[in-house]
Amino acid sequence: MADLQTPLVRPKRKKVLVDYLVQFRWILVIFVVLPASALIYFNIYLGDMWSAMKSEKKRQKEHEENVQKVVKRLKQRNPKKDGLVCTARKPWIAVGMRNVDYKRARHFEVDLSAFRNILEIDPERMVAKVEPLVNMGQISRATCPMNLSLAVVAELDDLTVGGLINGYGIEGSSHIYGLFSDTVVALEIVLADGRVVRATKDNEYSDLFYGVPWSQGTLGFLVSAEIKLIPIKEYMRLTYTPVKGPLKEVAQAYADAVAPRDGDPAKVPDFVEGMVYSATEGVMMTGVYASKEEAKKKGNKINSVGWWFKPWFYQHAQTALKKGEFVEYIPTREYYHRHTRCLYWEGKLILPFGDQFWFRFLFGWLMPPKVSLLKATQGDAIRNYYHDNHVIQDMLVPLYKVGDALEFVHHEMEVYPLWLCPHRLFKLPVKTMIYPEPGFEHHQRQGDTSYAQMFTELWINWFPFAWLLNY
Ligand SMILES: *[C@@H]1O[C@H](CO)[C@@H](O)[C@H](O)[C@H]1NC(C)=O
Repeated sequence: MADLQTPLVRPKRKKVLVDYLVQFRWILVIFVVLPASALIYFNIYLGDMWSAMKSEKKRQKEHEENVQKVVKRLKQRNPKKDGLVCTARKPWIAVGMRNVDYKRARHFEVDLSAFRNILEIDPERMVAKVEPLVNMGQISRATCPMNLSLAVVAELDDLTVGGLINGYGIEGSSHIYGLFSDTVVALEIVLADGRVVRATKDNEYSDLFYGVPWSQGTLGFLVSAEIKLIPIKEYMRLTYTPVKGPLKEVAQAYADAVAPRDGDPAKVPDFVEGMVYSATEGVMMTGVYASKEEAKKKGNKINSVGWWFKPWFYQHAQTALKKGEFVEYIPTREYYHRHTRCLYWEGKLILPFGDQFWFRFLFGWLMPPKVSLLKATQGDAIRNYYHDNHVIQDMLVPLYKVGDALEFVHHEMEVYPLWLCPHRLFKLPVKTMIYPEPGFEHHQRQGDTSYAQMFTELWINWFPFAWLLNY
């Protein structure tokens, strides 16, 4: 482990043009990106409504036709001269900030843009069958009115099922259900040779089933997924608990929030997340589903965080540091998407005054800017600047290491806020990218059970060198 005592020397450098471009990017964002985003969102919304109005049979039929188009296109490829197979999706459309320079080289494009429909929501099997471009906002809009939800709803509306499976996805319920890919029941995949297969955990394609998560789309084209649904209630009863003390104590408070109450495994909160605001301050949040009757009882506070003028969620949670612990009821769907409007705290970088009262009232309904449009309008200078200076980093660390990890991140970067989100790591029949430490069954650590190790996602998203820009 690095020496955490000696502070790092942080070199000074002069501001250059691109620093100013980043600093004044909000001008472009307000006048171009936000209005365009709103139009696109409206258009997508209409598209979803249109798709939802078609019968299930019709959607399924269109799906099969579209799969056949992919197969046909793959057969046109001449491996000797056509280069690697890629989706035709432009890199800036994805929410992820991964460097996708490989798409600048010659490649053979396959268009998957038609795969954006919910094919079926089956309350009997408790499974939703969806196409890969279906996003979280679309899916919760369809399932929540049925008192159903995906077990893991990643928070940003724009995150797609395909990305969450081929990459990974996590949410405050992952300490119960695991990563997004752990909630998948079956995958329909077009292989490079044009075969269409359905992979499940125990059929002949189980290796593919377990191989796809984290594969970044390298094993084939995902064309639909069947995902587990859970029953939900209309409200989330959320408790905000402040903690003040050194990072080790913040980590302990977080571990306590994940732990079952009174040691009873049945008493695990439905949702847990932690926010670390400085080297000595954090707020832990635990949520439990609640019925409308319970929420509306006299004396209970209902907070509809989804309204456009509401304070940004991470700042709202931060008020617990002053107010002390408090409890409120949040409509469930609004809770799921609590970080959408401000893109966690990335919104603050893009629109430094976006969190102000006047801005929220006047323009909050235009938020968030569509990440794809931000990326499309940034130009090479800002793009490269972000690659060099901006960090969006997910660290998956065992729960018992969170204190050490926080201290390490503090020493190396000193950036806040940080997001903590627990997830259960299942012991799978095959080795995957993250796998329990060998022998973990014999060394139970904080939060572990005999069949799963408890991990944490520690999410960093900020300019580590922000002091350069005086943000
Ligand atoms: C969802 O649950 C509420 C309250 O329990 C109930 O009133 C409502 O009818 C349910 N909706 C559906 C579609 O089952």
